[in-house]
Amino acid sequence: MDADKIIDKLYESCGASLEELEFLIDCRNEETAQKLFALARSRALENYGNKIYVRGLVEISSFCKNDCLYCGIRRSNKNAQRYRLTKDEILECCREGWALGFRTFVLQGGEDAYYTDDIMTDIVASIRAGYPDCAITLSLGEKTREAYQRYYDAGANRYLLRHETATPEHYAKLHPKELSLASRMECLQNLKEIGYQVGCGFMVGSPYQTTADLARDLLFIKSFAPQMVGIGPFIPHHDTPFADKPAGTAELTLFLLAIVRLMNPKVLLPATTALGTIEGDGRERGILAGCNVVMPNLSPQSVRKKYMLYDNKLSSGEEAAEARAALERRVEAIGYRVVTDRGDYKG
Ligand code: 5AD
Repeated sequence: MDADKIIDKLYESCGASLEELEFLIDCRNEETAQKLFALARSRALENYGNKIYVRGLVEISSFCKNDCLYCGIRRSNKNAQRYRLTKDEILECCREGWALGFRTFVLQGGEDAYYTDDIMTDIVASIRAGYPDCAITLSLGEKTREAYQRYYDAGANRYLLRHETATPEHYAKLHPKELSLASRMECLQNLKEIGYQVGCGFMVGSPYQTTADLARDLLFIKSFAPQMVGIGPFIPHHDTPFADKPAGTAELTLFLLAIVRLMNPKVLLPATTALGTIEGDGRERGILAGCNVVMPNLSPQSVRKKYMLYDNKLSSGEEAAEARAALERRVEAIGYRVVTDRGDYKG
């Protein structure tokens, strides 16, 4: 096999076989990476120009009933600082975000039983009523189809639910036994059928991950055809069972982001907080590898340090919503511009 030919094929046909993807990943070097990044950039440019969309991220709760082995807010982490935002606090975040120019609000949180379907539906409906021109994105984990439908009917437009890994055995090594890839997939399917713009995704360098797992993730994403894909490096959290596992690298994350851009030309692809956390210029490098979204933090200052999914998670600097001007400068310095429209999927 020849890496150059695989990259050409990715660019021309937006596809590759499992074996080709494995080969490309295993044999990657500076040269293949640069070629991939250049093509991924031009694909993003063709579809979205040099626009970078911003999403205001509101982390509504650090309570979670789940016990995912990698996650700092897992149920059994007794040291985690727990908080939840009230409806008024969430609306206040949206108010501030709107004034800062955000037209997408992403409500993300652990699976927290406090937010019953009634409460959540009411929160979504209130945001919808107050901000008719904004997109509402939810990232609240696995819910019943009925719950997803109610949030959608109340005005939610998008839903982020990473599949985490498309290999069932790998999924089982990252999650407690109550969680399964099958139910995660069922949720993703339900979201899509209801009409959400859906995001899936995975961590790069998560414990026990193999190249074949990554190739299966890429093929799953291609076949599921999501509107958004979230990919960031795994970063250990000191109070989890994976405390001593090595972090994923920015280098491999960028390589995979570029492949995702080539396989899914129109996908909305964020340069994630985790990428910015392991590398100071991670998000710029993400943009230069085909990303076209950034998601600054709009949560109240008082809770930002409590939503610690992994160690050293960024919550200030250009990561913070109030640092819009600084973010704009950094994005402009690499030839792009931050735009304030909703940034819907161009289907
Ligand atoms: N490192 C990187 N990403 C993490 N996430 C959770 N824990 C970690 C970690 N330790 C990601 C998961 C989840 C998203 C909200 O955050 O992929 O879907």
